[in-house]
Amino acid sequence: MKVAVYPGSFDPITNGHLDIIERASKIADKLIVLVAHNISKNGMFTSTEKARLIKESVKNFSNVEIDCFEGLLVEYVKENNINFIVRGLRAISDFEMELQMAILNRKLYSGAETLFLMTSTEHSYLSSSMVKELFQMNGSVSQFVPECVEIAMKNKLCGGETNE
Ligand code: PNS
Repeated sequence: MKVAVYPGSFDPITNGHLDIIERASKIADKLIVLVAHNISKNGMFTSTEKARLIKESVKNFSNVEIDCFEGLLVEYVKENNINFIVRGLRAISDFEMELQMAILNRKLYSGAETLFLMTSTEHSYLSSSMVKELFQMNGSVSQFVPECVEIAMKNKLCGGETNE
């Protein structure tokens, strides 16, 4: 059985992430969407909130699981016998950082391959940061994120809970 992990900040999950999840879930027997820690990013949502929103968004995919991990990705990959690390590539600007991460991860642990999926053109401009900025400037994010995410963002703005 081929197991893949799709790690990311997912702050929050967007339709671009969902596109990668859907396509990766057809390649792997099991796909784990992993809420991981990017030290260079400050989040809007907690890991638990992000995981809940992902779970709600992928409920129709039978071979997709969600997990959270605070440590090094390769440690998770080793512990869980992962075969592939899936990452989405939107544009050339993503490539340099993604290449560095893939090489570093392979140096640390050579038992898994990084698999890049090119983002579908309709999502190639989309990022969680852009969605958050749009939302903070009172723009509508409904066409860029699942409905549960839009609701959770509105709840955050009101200082409320996100159904934890
Ligand atoms: O969605 P992002 O922010 O582009 O995802 C980046 C992420 C979370 C996959 C990356 O920062 C990561 O792997 N974090 C876990 C800690 C780790 O292993 N860091 C070394 C990466 S080379």
